Amino acid sequence: MADLEEHFNHTIEKDRRVEPRDWMPDGYRATMVRQIAQHAHSEIIGMQPEGEWITRAPSLRRKAILLAKVQDEAGHGLYLYSAAETLGADRAELTAMLIEGRQKYSSIFNYPTLGYADVGVIGWLVDGAAICNQVPLCRSSYGPYARAMIRICKEESFHQRQGYELLMTMMRGTEAQRAMVQDAVNRWWWPSLMMFGPPDDASPNTARSMAWKIKRHTNDELRQRFVDMTVPQAEALGVTLPDPDLRWNPERGQHDFGAIDWSELKRVISGDGPCNARRLAVRRAAHENGAWVREAATAHARKTAHAHETAHAHETAPASEGAGRGVVA
Ligand SMILES: [Fe+2]
Ligand SMILES: [Fe+2]
Repeated sequence: MADLEEHFNHTIEKDRRVEPRDWMPDGYRATMVRQIAQHAHSEIIGMQPEGEWITRAPSLRRKAILLAKVQDEAGHGLYLYSAAETLGADRAELTAMLIEGRQKYSSIFNYPTLGYADVGVIGWLVDGAAICNQVPLCRSSYGPYARAMIRICKEESFHQRQGYELLMTMMRGTEAQRAMVQDAVNRWWWPSLMMFGPPDDASPNTARSMAWKIKRHTNDELRQRFVDMTVPQAEALGVTLPDPDLRWNPERGQHDFGAIDWSELKRVISGDGPCNARRLAVRRAAHENGAWVREAATAHARKTAHAHETAHAHETAPASEGAGRGVVA
């Protein structure tokens, strides 16, 4: 036991990856399962706000882009549920925890998408914030999670680009289109900053996650990085970020920004955001409507397993027969 623990600590210290078959402390496994599951849930619930606009995309090109993006999010959810399974979690159980409200997903997806500019702003800000959060996770200590994150991040950068490109197009359009973009930015800016989680002094698990190298930077560090990255992009776009206190601080070499309304984050996380009930209801209905697919897949798997066993039985019989004949000859 002491040996195993020493080996685990050594793996972390040497910046090597922890793999599914390795011994790991119970707390590490539980933290990893919770983080990966919440991440998976966020990808799947995250399909909804934009998914609602697929049928109302303004052109075939925009529709193809949006479809691809929303499908990518489904794929991200699937990689991540698989990564959670390598830790012994059961995907059906994780789904049950999501639809019964026992496990969380990112608070950002509880806000409504009121217009097509929201699709662009989600790509730019929400996927942009996700990239800030997830790029360091490519070096997370748990191997399957880190590897899933590499592919996910590549796709997230496509999401960010398509959002920004859509907004650029709208900003070059009519006055009404520019107003739509600005309105969407006004609504999504603060919730995007909340995506990084509570401030460091109210984030009790950060220290342990950093010691285990699950996390590489604190919430506040990542939030700052996102603000610094986004300000010049907003300028290039010609939109105003809705924060009168936002300004460059030459001493810190970073932007200062206004106070975040943490009571709003608390409220939305605890289930009282504008769309929480709707998001879970849609997810629950999708799960129920998919019951026949799961039943059919299980029946098919059983049948193939049976056919496989029978095939093996046939293979064994002639082989021993042959061997028998060999002996006689
Ligand atoms: Fe994603
Ligand atoms: Fe994305």
